Amino acid sequence: MKVIVVKDYNEMSEKGAQIMKDVIKNNPECVLGLATGDTPIGMYNLLAEGYEKGELDFSKVRSVNLDEYYPLSPDNDQSYRYFMNKNLFDRINIDKANTNVPDGMAKDVEKSCAEYEAKIDAMGGIDIQVLGIGRNGHIGFNEPDSELVPTTHLTALTDSTIEANSRFFASENDVPKHAITMGIESVFKARKIIVVASGASKAEAIRATVCGNLSTNCPASLLRLHPDVTIICDEAAYSLCK
Ligand code: PGA
Repeated sequence: MKVIVVKDYNEMSEKGAQIMKDVIKNNPECVLGLATGDTPIGMYNLLAEGYEKGELDFSKVRSVNLDEYYPLSPDNDQSYRYFMNKNLFDRINIDKANTNVPDGMAKDVEKSCAEYEAKIDAMGGIDIQVLGIGRNGHIGFNEPDSELVPTTHLTALTDSTIEANSRFFASENDVPKHAITMGIESVFKARKIIVVASGASKAEAIRATVCGNLSTNCPASLLRLHPDVTIICDEAAYSLCK
């Protein structure tokens, strides 16, 4: 696992965007694994700027997203489909038919999860997976637990995640209690993974990921087993590693 420590959020975004741009330029038909949350927004802004400047072409790029709340309609402004459209897809020339987000309205959830997993395989895997990290060390919605479900599945959100995400909803009660998420095995199908983290609230999760023991109680720590992971974090997020 490679760790790059940068000064602040802006530098983190620039570094992450640079790595993503290199992947897109080297392979215009690449598959991007994308994440939601506050942390990747700066990176997505830089990708959109790259497109506006004529530096990047997304016309043949395909994408898969890590997760989606369940149940939640894609039209709901708190859905991750809505987030992706607003923060990236509507700002670049990607074909929306080539973008995939788990179906927050799936009637047969098990079937929908199996289809999502099969789709990732049919696309030939993910060229670069972007991950944020939860304050509790979750990746996607793979929450700390004694066991982790390997592939795409429906999961219950922990109280700490519901509380952390309540800032986006009218109240904590409005936060969906479940989500569909790619599993750790799905994430490991990516040839390259970048994890972005900023701020002191992520310091304990970064410490546990970078120098704690491997544990399903910190799902991100398992990333140390993947051959190509780069953590890009700012000084505040790295502060407990010293
Ligand atoms: P954040 O979320 O980027 O909004 O901090 C990260 C996560 O919970 O995975």
